[in-house]
Amino acid sequence: MNELRRKIEAEIGERGPIPFSRYMEMCLYDPEFGYYSRNAAQFGKAGDFYTSSDVHAVFGRLLARQFEEMWRVLGSPEPIVIRELGPGRGLFAQDVLDWSERKFPEFFRALRYELVERSTALRARIEQTLSRRIESGKATFAEGSENPKTASDRVPAIGFANEFFDAIPVEIASHRGSLRIDSQDRRFVETWASLSAEELEFMDRYLIHPEEGERVELTLQAQREMLSACEIERGFVVVIDYGYTCEEQLAGRHRGTLKAIRQHSVSANPYEAPGDQDITADVNFTALAAVAEKQGLQAQKLITQSQFLMGIGEANQFADAFEECRLPQERAKVALQLKHLVTPAGMGESFHVLVASKGVDSEKVSGLSGLGFGRR
Ligand SMILES: C[S@@+](CC[C@H](N)C(=O)[O-])C[C@H]1O[C@@H](n2cnc3c(N)ncnc32)[C@H](O)[C@@H]1O
Repeated sequence: MNELRRKIEAEIGERGPIPFSRYMEMCLYDPEFGYYSRNAAQFGKAGDFYTSSDVHAVFGRLLARQFEEMWRVLGSPEPIVIRELGPGRGLFAQDVLDWSERKFPEFFRALRYELVERSTALRARIEQTLSRRIESGKATFAEGSENPKTASDRVPAIGFANEFFDAIPVEIASHRGSLRIDSQDRRFVETWASLSAEELEFMDRYLIHPEEGERVELTLQAQREMLSACEIERGFVVVIDYGYTCEEQLAGRHRGTLKAIRQHSVSANPYEAPGDQDITADVNFTALAAVAEKQGLQAQKLITQSQFLMGIGEANQFADAFEECRLPQERAKVALQLKHLVTPAGMGESFHVLVASKGVDSEKVSGLSGLGFGRR
């Protein structure tokens, strides 16, 4: 029998029915059997899902270009910290560091790259991918939201998260209340408890109240992670993910977005094979932006990944993508990969980008290339 299932059942036996977020937490991050704790085989084309950095290094390269521009907007401070949340295998960090070193040497000199990764297995993987960068001190592991911050927080910083917030455990609410997971006859069964004051408040502010038969996700832990990411004195926070705004939800979209994913196929059943499948929920961008504003950051209007990448890449016609291409067929292949990142049919419209800033002149912020597509 699945060992994680046994472990979850034992916890339910001791504590009684557990909140959905606790179930999701164990499925994804149990130190022994959690989906992200086991190995890195779930990533990439051969795994369960792939992210933008798997498609082509141009994703990290374009972001390096944008980070360098942000650094200049901040007055070219030394040092500048990029703090990446949930870096996974470290591919994005590798692309950003390599491209910055090649194209933006002054920025690279000032840069300190911090990785906040909770999975021990993935940290080991990052140690291999970024061994040279870690040895030289350019990249370091940093603590997450659960640990107190250090003096480095006064250093200007750019917080970055790609597909991080969709992997943070959620609560689920229906008209019957807040979901609890119980175990009966070796099966997980759903029961409902009253909504807590915190859950009710979140729902009143950022969500539609679910109608009969509907479910919505309460992204309370994501709010706490965002709060920690926004604890900066000066700088930017950039969040890329699939998600929604309150307005979209009101218009009838993104109501109940929890999914289980295994080998590129999606199931609505998160209770199958715990620990062997990914579980994700779309990101509530309205709620994340509200946290940023509360922390004194100025949140920009949400844009699509397509608009963001087009804005950064259009000035030099995406030269960052084609640099190594010698033959026409190599160019054609890279053009297809770029298209996948940018076009609506690929990842361009399903992913959105939230940029928030603190201590920076707002005109300079809105002049950033990533925020300017269609303006020039
Ligand atoms: C879907 S993966 C995305 C990985 C990477 N950003 C990418 O685009 O390929 C989510 C990552 O966030 C990490 N993670 C989740 N919760 C975390 C937390 N509270 N602190 C640090 N890392 C976390 C997971 O271990 C995993 O590496």
